[in-house]
Amino acid sequence: MLSKEENALVTQVGPGTPMGELFRRFWLPVLLSGELLERDGPPIRTRILGEDLVVFRDSLGQVGLIDAHCPHRGAGLFFGRNEEAGLRCVYHGWKFDVTGACVDMPSEPVESNFKHKVKATAYPTREWGGLIWVYMGPSERIPELPQLEWARVPAEQRTVNRVLVESSWLQMLEGDIDTSHSMFLHSAMDPALKQTSRRLDLTNDRSPRLSVQQTDYGLAYGGRYDTVDGRFDWRVTQWLMPCYTLIANKSWPVLGRAAVPIDDEHTSVISVRYDAEGGARLTPDQGWSRTKYQLPDGAVIDVARQEANQSNDYLIDRDFQRTRNYTGITRIFDQDRAVTESMGPIVDRSKEHLGTSDLAIIGMRRRLLSMLQDLQQGIEPQAPFDGELYHVRSCDALSDEGEFTRFLEVHQETLQAVV
Ligand code: FES
Ligand SMILES: [Fe+2]
Repeated sequence: MLSKEENALVTQVGPGTPMGELFRRFWLPVLLSGELLERDGPPIRTRILGEDLVVFRDSLGQVGLIDAHCPHRGAGLFFGRNEEAGLRCVYHGWKFDVTGACVDMPSEPVESNFKHKVKATAYPTREWGGLIWVYMGPSERIPELPQLEWARVPAEQRTVNRVLVESSWLQMLEGDIDTSHSMFLHSAMDPALKQTSRRLDLTNDRSPRLSVQQTDYGLAYGGRYDTVDGRFDWRVTQWLMPCYTLIANKSWPVLGRAAVPIDDEHTSVISVRYDAEGGARLTPDQGWSRTKYQLPDGAVIDVARQEANQSNDYLIDRDFQRTRNYTGITRIFDQDRAVTESMGPIVDRSKEHLGTSDLAIIGMRRRLLSMLQDLQQGIEPQAPFDGELYHVRSCDALSDEGEFTRFLEVHQETLQAVV
């Protein structure tokens, strides 16, 4: 449970808010490279941490991420002409390069030097691991990219996608560090859908014992399921600051997620399936059918919105729910989104009743709150400046060790990234 004030603190991400400032200390993945392959192609509208921006790839292949509105009189640069190494506003022809510099101002006299005085807000970008990353924080000290294993593997060993979730970033993240829900939400009665309830072969334990270990990058938490043969099935999930999770799986591919705030009430969820060893068959990226999406305040962004969504109750089939699976919703990620979004855009955490299965969520929130407090006192987080901290794995392993710290010692190598 959080107080109303604390809840606001961890969910408000706009410029000047404490959480917004913390997010602005990190590189954040915002788009798939595959969405923006074409040089001089159409720009993409986005909102990140409450700021409306357009992304474009210029004639030289560089990616620009600049204010969605022209600094002249505010016309939408989405309609701009992407040409000759810059994005030209179609209203009066002012043109901006990827650094936000105004490189042409044809509506002013040739002798005018006004264009040198005008600059569009622009943020540095990087392209890495199949994604476009942005850094929106103080320019004096640029952080390192987090050396997540999924970003380091060869491109053919990963698939990436990006989907809109219509709720706060923290709700999404909390679902990813909540191992106990998978025994319910993702379970099935039908053996043909068994992959969603595979652990039942091994254990009847539906109330895992949770242990949390705080780390330099965030936290590792273990869900211990007692198996029928007296051993322990440990499911270790990682939370890496600020918004990454590595979900436990028994075999490759493993799922990594990033819950990047669009604004307080919308999240861009990037899911990466990767195989560090290169043996698994990866289902090719289904691609993304990008659509226009109008935010409640009227701004438009370009995102992939799943076919099953709030407006159609995620295509719930009550008959399917009676006979085949727990929810009546077919796809796992749709099941996750249904419960996450059903809490409302920002769940009121002052009304919760947290149980022992919520230990990881409690640990993560405490950590966030203490980082926010630190930052307000001028103490900078270390993780953004040490990308190697992110070089870890999740795991799902059988062990004789019943105690988490012992398990972590014995299985230290399993939890270390290799690529
Ligand atoms: S509003 Fe963009 S050039 Fe005038
Ligand atoms: Fe889930």
